[in-house]
Formats: sequence, structure tokens, C-alpha cells
Amino acid sequence: MFRNLIEISQLSKDDVFSLLNLANEYRIKMPRRFPDDIVVANLFYEDSTRTRVSFELAAKKLGLTVINLDIDKSSANKGETIEDTVANLEAMGISIFVIRHSKRDVIENLADTFKYVSFINAGSGAHAHPTQCLLDLLTILQFKGSFNNLSVAIVGDIKHSRVANSLLHGLKLMDVADIRLCSPKEFMPSKLPIGTYVEDINSALKDVDVIVTLRVQRERFDDSLTFSLNAYRTHYRIDDERIKLAKPNVIVMHPGPMNRGVEIASSVADGDKQCIFRQVDNGVFVRMAILSSVINFQQKLVSAT
Ligand code: CP
Repeated sequence: MFRNLIEISQLSKDDVFSLLNLANEYRIKMPRRFPDDIVVANLFYEDSTRTRVSFELAAKKLGLTVINLDIDKSSANKGETIEDTVANLEAMGISIFVIRHSKRDVIENLADTFKYVSFINAGSGAHAHPTQCLLDLLTILQFKGSFNNLSVAIVGDIKHSRVANSLLHGLKLMDVADIRLCSPKEFMPSKLPIGTYVEDINSALKDVDVIVTLRVQRERFDDSLTFSLNAYRTHYRIDDERIKLAKPNVIVMHPGPMNRGVEIASSVADGDKQCIFRQVDNGVFVRMAILSSVINFQQKLVSAT
């Protein structure tokens, strides 16, 4: 149980296993429904398809009421701060805020300011995407049975990827021994606290169990970055020939949205090694588990006071 989910690093290994087990239970049997006067607000200050819809579905499957604030049509356009938006929604009785924002610290700062409601990070800048990390870990566990003795290659635009940043912490927490990061030098962060950098894709993919492909995030490039799409395709695209370097039962993951033909060939995206749509499916159950944990925390707090 936790009030907020801001980063994967706030969770212990046991916490992660509890959430993954709960998500797997929900996959088999729907849980009891919570009262519908518990309201979740989805505040997405950046675009989303998978995360926003899966949070909405997860909340509805739990019996909760969901508000999707259309930020483009909201009073944010009239200069209202996110703090004032949250304060107004809290005043209407909303107790759980699922937020995506381009700035790294906004959600954490909100959680420090508003003590009687919960915040779930649905993606913060290039920094963190903890719910994606949990659904990725669940997918790996379902296909591989355990995290022991796994080799995982994360390939692509690692520097701009909140998915990679959270997944690296998640894989380390689960004691994954061999974590390889593969990208052109310009897509590698200046510091590499976790994993081993392997620039050559053939070496990076050799005998791995899991390939995680990342989208090239042009919207986060700064002006100094020069980038050749053709060179990237030639050297880093995951295609049928390249996945033959991995173990025969390799799985290929992608958080979405995919740029078919850039970081992943369509034949791989639609092929028998991909588990991309299982990731998406798992997202609903993982987010149900997260919402349940937050509500159980809130209810315990109320009953203790
Ligand atoms: N993986 C992910 O965060 O996808 P969306 O941007 O569509 O939510």
C-alpha cells in the first residue's frame, strides 16, 4: 500500500512482486468493486493513448468514477497553474490524480503539497514512467517465469526515454544480472548508473532473452542533436535478421507508440516474438493493482483517524 506512486525506486522488491501478483489475480478474477464515490482524475499534460485509456479502464473495472480532464480545453489555457487545478478538483472531492507532465518534478511537488489525496505518475518528462515499468516487469515474468539469469537488451533512444529510465531501475531491483543498453552515442545518457553500454547491435543482441525496443523521441531532441533516420534504421532497427542473434525464445517488447520501419520492422512488430499487445493488456491489470493499493492506503488512513 502506498499513498503516491512517483518513481519505481520508492518500491521494494517485495512491493513489486505484490503488485505483479495482484495484477495476475485480477487477470483471472475481477476484484470486489470499490464505492463509486471514489473519483480518479486523469490529467494528461502530454499526449497518450495507452496509459490514459488503461487507467480509465482500470478505474472503471474497480467501480470507480473517472474524470478525464481535456487539458487542451481546460483553464490551464487561461493561465491556471497545475496546483490550482488540483486544488479545485480536490475541492470537488477527487481523491486520486493520475498525471502525465513534461517536467520531471511537477508530480512529486504536488504530492508534497497536497497531503490528503494521492498522485500516480503516468509519465514525467524523460525521467520516470513507473506504471510502464511494472507492466513491462509483469510481461517479462509471464513469459520467462522468473528474473533469474536473464539477459535483457534495451535498444534505442535511451537518453530521452522515461520508459528506459524506470525499467533500468526495475530490472536492477529484480536482480536481473545482464542489462545491455544499445544505442548510437548521441542517444546514451552522460551517466550510466545501471547496465552496460554496448554500441554494436550485434553484440548487444547476442543470446539475450528479452529485447526492449524504444521509440526515437524527436519531440525531446535539443537543437544540438544531429540525427540521421537512415543511419539509425541501418544500424539499430530490430528486424528479422537481428532477432536471430538472440535466444530462440526471445521476446520483443515495445512500450508504444511504435514508429514502424524506424526502430522496429513491421515483420517483427507483427511477428511471433513480439509481446507488445500483451504489454498493453497487462497495463490495465497493473494499473488496477496500483489504484487498489492507493485506495487501500487511503481507507486505512481514514479508519485509523
Ligand atoms: N507507453 C506509453 O506510455 O504509451 P502512451 O504514450 O500512449 O501512453
